[in-house]
Formats: sequence, structure tokens, C-alpha cells
Amino acid sequence: MVVRASAYADELVQTAKTIASPGRGILAMDESNATCGKRLDSIGLENTEANRQAYRTLLVSAPGLGQYISGAILFEETLYQSTVDGKKIVDVLVEQGIVPGIKVDKGLVPLAGSNNESWCQGLDGLASREAAYYQAGARFAKWRTVVSIPNGPSELAVKEAAWGLARYAAISQDNGLVPIVEPEILLDGEHGIERTFEVAQKVWAETFYYMAENNVMFEGILLKPSMVTPGAECKDRATPEQVAEYTLKLLHRRIPPAVPGIMFLSGGQSEVEATQNLNAMNQSPNPWHVSFSYARALQNTCLKTWGGRPENVKAAQDALLLRAKANSLAQLGKYTS
Ligand code: 13P
Repeated sequence: MVVRASAYADELVQTAKTIASPGRGILAMDESNATCGKRLDSIGLENTEANRQAYRTLLVSAPGLGQYISGAILFEETLYQSTVDGKKIVDVLVEQGIVPGIKVDKGLVPLAGSNNESWCQGLDGLASREAAYYQAGARFAKWRTVVSIPNGPSELAVKEAAWGLARYAAISQDNGLVPIVEPEILLDGEHGIERTFEVAQKVWAETFYYMAENNVMFEGILLKPSMVTPGAECKDRATPEQVAEYTLKLLHRRIPPAVPGIMFLSGGQSEVEATQNLNAMNQSPNPWHVSFSYARALQNTCLKTWGGRPENVKAAQDALLLRAKANSLAQLGKYTS
């Protein structure tokens, strides 16, 4: 059987390498309108398009952001949006040396036949949506599905998550977008770190099995895993060294060295915790670029500092740059608190 390679193969490899470049990681700013509404509500702002535009203008125009950030994941609205002073957001990112990316999944819905688990929608019409996103300047994509430990996870939920990610990855590569493969293992639960490790091994084994079956080119993907930590309600907390040890053991067992970059999500860790854990993972050389693709762990202080007030924009951008720089150092294993 001969499988046709993506017409974009060389470009995909190049894009993935650019994003996985030393000392840089991804700014996830792809909150759906509903999630962005929650963030704006936390600082007393209404969820209007103008407020979302003002906030996202602040993020992408932080001076020098491209020194630490190689890619930015956008929600569809932002991909087609301009800054408050009328420049296309995509153009501002490119000028900063940041590759624009796009969230392409359509969110989670209940998985019938499971133990109150979820599956991720969005495969219908994905190829044509992605072709349009490429035209609009996107060069990578993100699909986030979740696996819940307290609810199982059932065999069915893991298989569905892995299969959906594999189909999405193949379709993205066909349309010139580097797929970020994100099966988030939710932090919720009282389970210990061993249980997270066991579930993560299963999830990544299935994800790579189905990606191979779907002829996904591993040199042209990026991964967005959860770090291996105890459940959020577990009494035994783990040190950054323990998180690094378990997470690296998982990666070594399950992730081929052909994959260029592992861009972790922060998943509700504090800003400093997410930086310390990343730094601990970069204390010795890894076969892949081990970096970040954080939303909350880059944005929390920035958002609070802004508070919706124009006079706070500069201070908020400084807060973003502080976290971006700390995580850049952590990518190099050189962060000190
Ligand atoms: P957090 O870093 O806030 O977990 O978000 C990353 C993300 O993009 C989740 O899909």
C-alpha cells in the first residue's frame, strides 16, 4: 500500500521546527467566546466583541513577545479580527515572529454509552474549514479533547479521544496545518500521581496507535500533554522533581523521537508551579523540545493587572512578558525563582 504524503510535508516539518525553537513556546489565547466571557467577568467586564478585541490586542502587541513566544493559538473570531487600531491580528503576530495557530475543535459533548464522560466534536467539515484558516494565515491547529480519571476513564472514552485526535491530525496535515495533539487528562480527582501515570500511558499508546493507522507524519506534529501530577484533590502533593520524573518517564516510554516538540498545557497549575515543573524537565537533554503552551499560566496576572483599564495596558503587557520570559528560561532549564 502506498500512502500519498501531504503536499505540505516539507512546510509542516519547517513550521513544527520553528514553533519548537530553543527558548520559545506557545501562548494559548484561544479561549472560546464562552470561556473568554468567564475570564472577562472575573475582572468585571462584559463579554463583548470590543472587550475581547481590546484584551487580545494587548496580548499580541506586547513589545518583544516573539523573543519568548513562537506560536499563538487563536479562536476563530481572533483569526479574522483586527487590533483596536485596525491592524490584522495575524499580521501583528507575524511581525513579532510568532506563528499564528487556530483552535479547530468544536468543543466537548456528553459521550453516550459512557460513565458521564465527554467526546470532542469538529471532524465534519474540518478539511474545508482548515483550508480557509490556512488562507487566512494560520499555520498550525489545536484540537483539545479530555479524559477524566474520576469518571473512569472507560475504554470507550479513551478510544474515542485517540481516534478523534488521529483523524484531526491527518486532516490538518492534508491542509497545511501542523496539528497540536492535545488529550488533556483533567486534574480533577483525589487520585495519586501513579494513577495519572497509568492513565497517561494508556491514552498516549492509543493516540499513537491510531495516528500511525491514519498515516500521520510524526515529524510534522506537536503534542500538548498534561504533566503527570497527582489529582487536584489528592492530599499527597508532588515536588517539581517528582512531576518531572514521572512526566519524562511517560514521554520516554510513549513518544517517538521523530516528534519535534512537546508543548505542555498548564491545566490549572499556578503560574510559578507551571514554570518550575517545566524547568525541572529541562535539567538534562531530551530527544524533543520540551516547552509550554500555556493559557492561564501566562495570562492570569496579566489579565488581573489590566482590569479592563487602558492606563494599565503597559503594566499588563509587562506581566505577560515576565511570565513568557520565565517560561523561556524554563525551556532552557535555566529558570531560578
Ligand atoms: P491552560 O494552560 O490554561 O491549561 O490552557 C491551555 C489550553 O490551551 C487548553 O487547551
